[in-house]
Amino acid sequence: MPTTHLKSTTAFKKDNSYILYNGSCIDILKEFQENSFDCIFADPPYHLSNDGFTCHSGKRVSVNKGTWDRSQGIESNFEFNKLWLSECKRVLKPHGTIWVSGTYHSIYVCGFVLQSLGFHILNDICWFKPNAPPNLSCRYFTSSHETLIWAKKEKSKKHIFHYKVMKNGDWTNDKFKKDSTQMRSVWSITSPKRDEKKSGKHPTQKPIELLKRIILASTNEGDCILDPFCGSSTTGISAYKLRRKYVGIDINEEYIQLSIKRFKELS
Ligand SMILES: C[S@@+](CC[C@H](N)C(=O)[O-])C[C@H]1O[C@@H](n2cnc3c(N)ncnc32)[C@H](O)[C@@H]1O
Repeated sequence: MPTTHLKSTTAFKKDNSYILYNGSCIDILKEFQENSFDCIFADPPYHLSNDGFTCHSGKRVSVNKGTWDRSQGIESNFEFNKLWLSECKRVLKPHGTIWVSGTYHSIYVCGFVLQSLGFHILNDICWFKPNAPPNLSCRYFTSSHETLIWAKKEKSKKHIFHYKVMKNGDWTNDKFKKDSTQMRSVWSITSPKRDEKKSGKHPTQKPIELLKRIILASTNEGDCILDPFCGSSTTGISAYKLRRKYVGIDINEEYIQLSIKRFKELS
């Protein structure tokens, strides 16, 4: 594991398989040795919390996720994404891959930064949400997807892609995936189920099914996966169930506690 000589205090650690740090990833990432991680999943702030409205359970509610999601302007968003993505490149192994998730508020900036840092883009995945809430204003198309960019550190190195698992696995809940057809770049996965929020709620929690697919596609058992914006640790829970190691970082103590609770309640 790449975590042995860190100055930052570990918030939680279980057998070098599930490790959490509380603080800004921009500081904590600097403490990891280069070429430490096999894979990174990053779900950074969307920078969409601008006092607008959305729909939840049929009601008009604020779109705001928290102060961590406020935009300080496009230049500042760009600098922020450049800082953490530069560190991610340094700590990723040469054959390693990174997944970055976002909406149109953030994903184009992240894509531009990834390319300017020399990452090689492998795919952009459209994660379609069949149960997305309706648009209340009726003045726009209803937002019903997020984009995930999948990129590798070094173009010349052979990255991991479990083609047969993706092609032949049991993906019956995905209405776009028919038996034994190749896995395409549009994935239909519903938002987290009620059961996935039994330990507490995170405003932008990802579904286990999404992380399961990502981890099975792009890592081997025993690999170490980093999530620099771990939130409720959907990445960590999925990684642990699939026998991968996990290091999660979040700036918010409340979400670190939720990540610990989720882990302890794993049956
Ligand atoms: C989009 S959410 C991630 C949700 C997560 N994928 C899940 O399934 O729960 C982004 C997270 O980044 C955290 N965050 C924001 N700025 C951060 C920073 N500089 N360093 C580390 N975490 C940060 C927020 O507290 C929030 O939990």
